Amino acid sequence: MSQLLSPEVLASRSAPLFGFWYPAVPSHRLRPGTMTALKMLDLPILLCRDRAGTLAAMRDLCPHRGMPMSFGRFDGELVECPYHGWQFDMKGRCQRIPALPEGGSFQCDKIGVATYPVEETDGMIWLYLADDRGNTDPLPPAPRMPLPSEPRQSFHISLTYTCTPDDGVIGLIDPVHGPYVHSWWRSDARMHEKTKIFEPIPHGFRMTAHRPAKNSGPFHWIERIYGGPLSTTIDFLLPNQRVELMQCGSVWLANRLMSTPVSDMECRIDFSAYWCGLHWLPFGNLIFRTLTKMFLGQDERAMKHLAVGLRHKPSSMFLGDADMPARWYYKLKAAHLESVQTGRPFDHPLKERVTLRWRS
Ligand code: FES
Ligand SMILES: [Fe+2]
Repeated sequence: MSQLLSPEVLASRSAPLFGFWYPAVPSHRLRPGTMTALKMLDLPILLCRDRAGTLAAMRDLCPHRGMPMSFGRFDGELVECPYHGWQFDMKGRCQRIPALPEGGSFQCDKIGVATYPVEETDGMIWLYLADDRGNTDPLPPAPRMPLPSEPRQSFHISLTYTCTPDDGVIGLIDPVHGPYVHSWWRSDARMHEKTKIFEPIPHGFRMTAHRPAKNSGPFHWIERIYGGPLSTTIDFLLPNQRVELMQCGSVWLANRLMSTPVSDMECRIDFSAYWCGLHWLPFGNLIFRTLTKMFLGQDERAMKHLAVGLRHKPSSMFLGDADMPARWYYKLKAAHLESVQTGRPFDHPLKERVTLRWRS
């Protein structure tokens, strides 16, 4: 039972992965004619939606002297830098330099700001952050939730955790912190052994369809109400997604949890839930939202406490099957980086179905 990661895998720790779509903001938070500033993978980004609804994302640094343009104005078509008033269109091209005398021959649209591909799916705005190869042609499709039908309800929650990019992702796929971090839901007194089957999927792995754990009370109520069985599938996908789909007859509930690096000790957690059915549950949206906030708040506190320890740069141990998803994450990450560096196809570290056993 090895506790250590190989040197190649260790080398990839904490560096965020480029060459993927990352969630920026939920669609409803960017109305037409507005802009918002955000930081992702340490990049300053300005996200705009023009009056017609078209999205644009650009580097939030004016090419003149580096002023963040997000401190300026957006009239729904052009962004104006607050320092000397240079104006940029939605393609990041400079359209006006007010200090230049009229009638000059200087073509200001030769000056531009770096832009990022932007898309909108499942109520989320995504940015493609290219790797060193700057490879954006052709772009992979933006992520989509595997929803069985049109959702009846949904909600979205974002929080910022104090953690490294890797700890943010590992927190999404750690199967055994529940009885300690979320003890009100699953106490350590009721811990028991679990067996789960995992299989490789493109750029990730899947916990194959399984029944809810014996100690997950509320899910058993759903089985009783809908005549069960309830099955759950959980996918992890590079760089940062945990996607869960629960189905019981015609009723389904899906959620996606993502950890996007903001800086080296900060990650934005985005949780989106979608469901169909459960019409009988009064205030269902409010109840699920409140429960989710409680869970995420507990994880947030755990990460904050972990960050206190990480300041001393301790080494980590990866022990037994419970830590196997974390090991696979590091291996997937290393395999992706290797493929980028060598140009060779992605060599998936998980070759076949594997059964893992742990107690939680
Ligand atoms: S710094 Fe932006 S216009 Fe001068
Ligand atoms: Fe958790």
